[in-house]
Amino acid sequence: SETDRFRVAMPVPPVLRPVSTRGGRDVYDITMRPAECEILPGVRTGVLTYNGSFPGPTIKARSGRPVVVRQRNRLTMPTSVHLHGAAVTQENDGDPMDTIAPGADRIYHYPNRQPHASLWYHDHAHHMEAEHVYRGLSGSYLLTDSVEQALPLPSGPYDVPVALRDVHIDGAGDLAFSMGDPERTTIVANGKAYPYFRVAARKYRFRLLNSSNIRAFDLRLSDGSDIIRIGSDGGLLPRPHTTDRVFLSSGERADVVIDFSRYPVGTEIVLENSAPPGDLARIGQVLRFDVDRTAPDASRVPSVLRSLPRLPEPTGERTVKLTMAPPQAFMDDKVYDPGRIDAFVRYGASEVWTVVNANEVFPHNFHMHLVQFRILERNGQTPPPSDAGLKDTVNLMPGETVKLQATFDRYRGTYVYHCHMLDHSAMGMMATMKIG
Ligand code: C2O
Ligand code: CU
Repeated sequence: SETDRFRVAMPVPPVLRPVSTRGGRDVYDITMRPAECEILPGVRTGVLTYNGSFPGPTIKARSGRPVVVRQRNRLTMPTSVHLHGAAVTQENDGDPMDTIAPGADRIYHYPNRQPHASLWYHDHAHHMEAEHVYRGLSGSYLLTDSVEQALPLPSGPYDVPVALRDVHIDGAGDLAFSMGDPERTTIVANGKAYPYFRVAARKYRFRLLNSSNIRAFDLRLSDGSDIIRIGSDGGLLPRPHTTDRVFLSSGERADVVIDFSRYPVGTEIVLENSAPPGDLARIGQVLRFDVDRTAPDASRVPSVLRSLPRLPEPTGERTVKLTMAPPQAFMDDKVYDPGRIDAFVRYGASEVWTVVNANEVFPHNFHMHLVQFRILERNGQTPPPSDAGLKDTVNLMPGETVKLQATFDRYRGTYVYHCHMLDHSAMGMMATMKIG
């Protein structure tokens, strides 16, 4: 049948074990090193990894309990590890210029003084971030809190991180960077091309992450049935919403619940993608769910998931314009210059930023370090439910304008904001804000 290509089980990345839990904090050791893995069945492919795992191991953290990660760079080039979506001090942010030399170690402190969220960590070394992330340097960091834990959502083995991305594997089995042959583009879920995932006929929570460099996903189930969207970048939505499609630009996350109890045992449902580019026969199928058993299910999706703080009165406004004319890409007509401050922000300010994608053909997206923001408007309209909740990355189709509000009351310091299509940020679509 047409689903014969699903030949390997989707792995769930290992959960990293702390080397110490003393003193009220969890300490982890990670080694960045090359490894080989089987992305395509039977083909050995060289990748760059955190601890040999592709994607990297999952870190599980809890609000109020600090995490310390010792990163050992055993690669031949500089790296910088950014915890995407986290509020951390400048020295711990994994700034593009604040790199770990080959052979060196670096200790990152994550205070976790923020609500639950599906965060992720990835390389951010300037001009190399796109290639490093492409070659494998990314992993999930799931931060939970008592608000989330009190909810009867699917949990334990029924709460599954799924990192989606594309790869281009050449005839020799190597990862071809910079698109390669679109005929060889393959979508992978948790590091495997066309995997199946055996599920019980009950509800599951999936933490979807788009860890691609550029590619967006427009996801649906092959039978068009309901997906309950419960969360986005910055954790749970105030209320769940039922949809049949989930769009994710690179760097964005979506928490969804799929109820497989509606299917008889033996059903196979494919998670499909319709976002270009590429041949739909290759990029249209992502992952197959095989309903292979029944199981009890005491979980449910409550009609109220969390409350978000009321937005403060904005204290200021600014506009940011995204444009690209390869081989350069611009933020407000300027290429990234780490020595320049592009936005001075008063500590404690709550600003409305109008972000404009001024390109007619290229989509972009917009990611700010340090803050989770709220989307106020999309193209002058009330934003759709997919823009709800706390966000750190927002997609902008050609010509689109998004108004967002961000409150800068976490840390003082210098942080970047950029397009998260990593080839664009590598080409300069990145700028610096100084909070002080
Ligand atoms: Cu996920 Cu500055 O990045
Ligand atoms: Cu871009």
